[in-house]
Amino acid sequence: MAIQMFEDRGHAAVYQKYRFAPGKELQQTILSYLREKKAIPAELAVDVGCGSGQGTHFLGEHFKKVVGTDISKAQIQEAKDTPCMPNISYLVCPAEELPFEDASVDVLTSFTAAHWFDTERFMREARRVVRPGGCMAISTYTVDMSLRYGDCSQQLTKAFRECWDKILKYSNDRLKYVLDDYKEIFEALPFPDKKRVTDIYDSIPMTVEGVVGYMESASPYQTFKKNDPTAATSLLQETEKRMLETMGVSSRETMMEFWVRHVCVLGCKEC
Ligand SMILES: C[S@@+](CC[C@H](N)C(=O)[O-])C[C@H]1O[C@@H](n2cnc3c(N)ncnc32)[C@H](O)[C@@H]1O
Repeated sequence: MAIQMFEDRGHAAVYQKYRFAPGKELQQTILSYLREKKAIPAELAVDVGCGSGQGTHFLGEHFKKVVGTDISKAQIQEAKDTPCMPNISYLVCPAEELPFEDASVDVLTSFTAAHWFDTERFMREARRVVRPGGCMAISTYTVDMSLRYGDCSQQLTKAFRECWDKILKYSNDRLKYVLDDYKEIFEALPFPDKKRVTDIYDSIPMTVEGVVGYMESASPYQTFKKNDPTAATSLLQETEKRMLETMGVSSRETMMEFWVRHVCVLGCKEC
């Protein structure tokens, strides 16, 4: 059954502001695979569970037409309100019922979203819409994250991890798909020609405010905030204070490197 966790307008606005786009390494992993399978250049890419378009934008440079789809009206509204290339459009629809003809999609992607879908129904639908010789690229970032700044990276990561561990206590069961590096999602991918890459590391430049905002945008944090708004708000305030003290700076605009490991499941439909 589809789970709807991103309906709230406030959450969607925080999401749009703080969620980062796929980094260079993840982009290269996907593009190299699509080139190897001769799946690009091509007409149509569909980005399922596109949120406010974080991954959809990079596809715009490689396809004639890109459609981002999401079950959440609030997320799609944020996506539509964000400037993007003219070949990108957005649709509200569930991943399990995609409004595309059989064999009409060249490449179907999903960034940090497939663990929310009904896996069996989504995979059946993906197999229906992807053309023979077309590809799927399903990725997520993992909980392997670290922060780097001068010579205090270790303490900074500790402050981040301690906060993140408290937030993850409010995770939905679906986090299990991420914690097992999308193994189940890989096994369910309905093409015999497939592979899973688990060691994609990206460095994203981020401010202190950005790191705190990223945590705020996470769905477990939003659940925490609904259950105990005072504790949730003060956790982020205290963590920000601790990070600034660790770095020996006063500005939330101070830049650091946010390192994250991605997993990507790639497959090519038989001709
Ligand atoms: C963690 S966000 C990822 C958004 C974006 N792709 C990114 O990379 O940041 C997950 C998205 O999946 C969407 N979603 C969850 N279940 C869905 C479903 N069954 N069908 C379509 N979208 C779904 C949510 O509304 C949310 O926008």
